[in-house]
Amino acid sequence: MSFELPELPYDYDALAPFMSRETLEFHHDKHHQAYVTNGNNLLKDSGLEGKSLEEIVKASFGSNAGLFNNAGQHYNHIHFWKWMKKGGGGTSLPAKLQAAIDSDLGGYDKFKADFMNAGATQFGSGWCWIAVKDGKLAIMKTPNGENPLVHGATPILGCDVWEHSYYIDYRNARPKYLEAFVDSLINWDYVEECYDAAMG
Ligand SMILES: [Fe+2]
Repeated sequence: MSFELPELPYDYDALAPFMSRETLEFHHDKHHQAYVTNGNNLLKDSGLEGKSLEEIVKASFGSNAGLFNNAGQHYNHIHFWKWMKKGGGGTSLPAKLQAAIDSDLGGYDKFKADFMNAGATQFGSGWCWIAVKDGKLAIMKTPNGENPLVHGATPILGCDVWEHSYYIDYRNARPKYLEAFVDSLINWDYVEECYDAAMG
């Protein structure tokens, strides 16, 4: 397979004022596009052509850093766009997901604090996550293009804490961006879809 840039699942203005048109134009049209273009170049003659994106991410981790960085970021961003929606965020979660957050993450307030803390303390570029590991939810953080797939887990929610994700709208205030993501952007229905898929 070759990598392709997906369309955003909403208009460029849909997430304002929490994430601006300008941020989405740079982040989707320039940064994600670069991961797709560079990933396709590095996929050629890698021995992994024809594999699924998930397989390429896992197989290139630790063995082909250039391909891994771009394939990992392609995977992360495909989901990141879908993990947000206009009018998202907040405390109205689908019941099954709410129950899992209550039992595995100590409830919504503790999830929010721990998720934001993971994103705020990820030194430099990276991501914070809710992942399913061994059948339970866990908060994780990873550097650069890494994700839970390469640590034996499946991501069901991720927030991009690379500066390109927030610097236009929030300057250096990463915690404010993380709070806006949780309170106003998360597409909980897609998170539950990922949860169902991860639990089989
Ligand atoms: Fe990004």
